[in-house]
Amino acid sequence: MILAERMHRLGTESAFEVLARANKLAQQGRDIINLGIGQPDFPTPDNIVAAAQKALADGHHGYTPANGILPLREAVAEDIEKYRGVEIDPDRIVIVPGGKVTMYFAITMFGEPGTEIMYPDPGFPIYRSVIEFSGAKAVPIPLYEENGFSFSAEEVLSKITERTRLIIVNSPANPTGGVVPKEELDTLVAGLEKHPQVMVMSDEIYARMVYDNMPHASMTVYPELADRLILLDGWSKTYAMTGWRLGYAVWPKNLAEHATRLAINIHSCVNAATQYAGIEALKGPQDAVDRMVAAFDERRQVIVERLNQLPGVSCIRPGGAFYAFPNITGTGRSARDLQDTLLSEVGVALVAGTSFGDQGEGYIRFSYANSVENIERAIDRIDRFLAG
Ligand SMILES: Cc1ncc(COP(=O)(O)O)c(C=O)c1O
Repeated sequence: MILAERMHRLGTESAFEVLARANKLAQQGRDIINLGIGQPDFPTPDNIVAAAQKALADGHHGYTPANGILPLREAVAEDIEKYRGVEIDPDRIVIVPGGKVTMYFAITMFGEPGTEIMYPDPGFPIYRSVIEFSGAKAVPIPLYEENGFSFSAEEVLSKITERTRLIIVNSPANPTGGVVPKEELDTLVAGLEKHPQVMVMSDEIYARMVYDNMPHASMTVYPELADRLILLDGWSKTYAMTGWRLGYAVWPKNLAEHATRLAINIHSCVNAATQYAGIEALKGPQDAVDRMVAAFDERRQVIVERLNQLPGVSCIRPGGAFYAFPNITGTGRSARDLQDTLLSEVGVALVAGTSFGDQGEGYIRFSYANSVENIERAIDRIDRFLAG
């Protein structure tokens, strides 16, 4: 058996490995507090579950159009108008099984040997993994703690070469909870005028989770990017639907058919009942989302305050998503060592910053998609451990 060479370049997402180890320890009877997992700890709202059940009862059992059923694409367009103030033709929308699929489509559409794709570091690990899989060179965009884990647009622009095909932006971000300020996006977009061959993929999957009354700064609002922007979003985080596998992208008009062709080759369509659930999620009451985001905000206050009291740890206040990314250099331990030791010795599952890129050394990711009580218990344990 001779595996294709690119298989050796495909990375992974360590959060899944940490989850597997945490589950194994829990099965052995250990009391594990999981702050490693990047998914809401709430169930999918009942009205959404009921819509899927109704779709099955109504006989929606077959294939759908590869780009998704029209009422769902229309609901997405309405949602984009409501939350981002931008009018989008539903024909530019392609429904896919989760946010990750758009990432894979965009990166493999533009990445090939001899090209470069820029990605945030620390950032969602699948960006770099798929860039390398595509044969393109992965060029990190460093995110800085002192900038609230935003990038510097000037620095991004200075790294563009004639080989650059795609820039990936993610705000609010995993793993840092960082939010890129609107002014930084303005500078980036203005500078991109000089590089018309460069596409942008804006991963806005945490768009509804922005705190402190800040509006979400979306990249969809720049008309000059309409032919160059791929918007990635989905239902996983906003509606606590990670296991349903439902996401969407808005593609430039001439790329939607390429994305649809990839869908036809790979998964045919998203399962029909899930698409009906997706309509209910967008058009139904939003109070469950509001309650969930309010709960995350409360936990954010608790976790940041408690982390800053730990010896050797400091944590800036994340502006969005449900992650805190404290600086742990003062503990004298590497990120990976702290991750492994805290899981095995005190039963707290976290993810080392290095799982998100080379710039992640000295940091560890806490997901606060867990109860205040569990967050407090976890930090009590870490406190006792670090205090020796
Ligand atoms: C930044 C970011 N983008 C995309 C995804 C993928 O979401 P999905 O589960 O819908 O594929 C995640 C999931 O953790 C994420 O953190």
